Amino acid sequence: MKTYIVETWGCQMNHHDSERLAGLLESEGLQEATTAMDADLVLLNTCSVREKPVRKILGRIQTLSRMRSPRPAIGVCGCVAQQEGEALLESAEAVDFVLGPGQVPRIGEALRCLRQGKRGVFIGFENPEDYNYAQIFRKDSTRGMVTIIEGCDEYCTFCIVPYTRGHEFSRPSSEILSEVRVLVSSGLREVELLGQTINAYRCPETGGGLAHLLRKILEISDLDRLRFITSHPRHFGEDLIEVLSDEPRLSRYLHLPFQSGSNRILKRMNRKYTREEYRDLIRRIRDRVPDINLSTDVIVGFPGESEEDFLQTLSLLEDIRFGQVFAFAYSPRPGTPAAKYRPKLPEDVALDRLHRLFTLTDGISRQLNEALVGSRMRVLIDGTSRKSESDWQGRGEDNRVINFPATGREKVGDIVEVEILQASAHSLVGRRPGSSPTLPIRT
Ligand code: SAM
Ligand code: F3S
Repeated sequence: MKTYIVETWGCQMNHHDSERLAGLLESEGLQEATTAMDADLVLLNTCSVREKPVRKILGRIQTLSRMRSPRPAIGVCGCVAQQEGEALLESAEAVDFVLGPGQVPRIGEALRCLRQGKRGVFIGFENPEDYNYAQIFRKDSTRGMVTIIEGCDEYCTFCIVPYTRGHEFSRPSSEILSEVRVLVSSGLREVELLGQTINAYRCPETGGGLAHLLRKILEISDLDRLRFITSHPRHFGEDLIEVLSDEPRLSRYLHLPFQSGSNRILKRMNRKYTREEYRDLIRRIRDRVPDINLSTDVIVGFPGESEEDFLQTLSLLEDIRFGQVFAFAYSPRPGTPAAKYRPKLPEDVALDRLHRLFTLTDGISRQLNEALVGSRMRVLIDGTSRKSESDWQGRGEDNRVINFPATGREKVGDIVEVEILQASAHSLVGRRPGSSPTLPIRT
């Protein structure tokens, strides 16, 4: 077995786990293949937050097992592995091992099992001491992800994460700082701190919270940008608002899921805040950081959600005006309290609500983006644009996606000034000041 490939579904945490899995496989002497077709081992790093991705993964296992003969070895990792465990080996013959997100450090053991022709099941939660940041295979040359808190203790009634990723544990700030220093000295410009409830972070050694950690990290003077996801509204203290307003190198972007605008539904979701508290939090943040770009997650069609509850969600969206909204139709997850809640909503009602929601939020995002036309932004170049090889794509300080024509004077990883010329709901188009005024009509 010489080559591997990791296919990733789901959140940033999963993408980062894939970098950890790849790093450990490389240390076992394997090399990354270009496609699954020429890989000896395919790892599917899965997401089980909603049912649809789970179905897609089962389809992918089938495709891989028929793709060529002999088929590649297949390891299912991530939340589906933790949730299904042994049952996955029984239901999918082509799966050689399952390895939950808490078992990433045991991928070498899974490999040895595989070489002996045994099918292994590695599930259970991570031992904080096994976290090895020295062996992470990072492909992104501009930004690096760093997990600071694992697991989640919030137990939102719809969510599978506390059952697949286990209890919260924070990594020591001394270790996080060493990791960030290594990333910065290797040339990365931006660091993204990760956690499901990142603002519940508490250093196990000093007791310091997220605001304190951010200030310590920003003492690393060569770091250009720092951001963090995902925040929970109930842990968002004044100290965090203060650090956002004081520190220009902290990204002007905040992801703050509210899930529902109805207090009745928020209670049934166990979110532990009200719509008024959420709105007040946003007001306090905007008072101190007026240029903040806010994004959120929303669920529609939660059991028992009436039209009136849904209208409350729309009114909150209208009121706050987020730059970006990630909205999902509720998907019952096995073993979570809400899976037993009644009445269930018909699928067409949930989809209709989702459609109405996106009509509203796309319009708002477009207006917010249009208001930026004529302004200048500092853009970190990620690579060539997906739509044209002669354009760059990057992100502004507020995480907005910006495309602009290459002038031959830039390279990936540069931070350059771009004048905004055109806007759509999901991205901006600009040009370097002083470059040709032709408008690249490619939003
Ligand atoms: N930690 C984050 C938070 O504070 O809310 C979110 C984690 S979850 C992996 C990402 C998003 O998926 C959630 O914010 C929620 O909107 C959505 N989600 C989670 N469970 C869901 C379900 N059962 N059905 C539909 N969407 C769901
Ligand atoms: Fe899930 Fe709620 Fe935690 S959405 S990840 S249980 S904050």
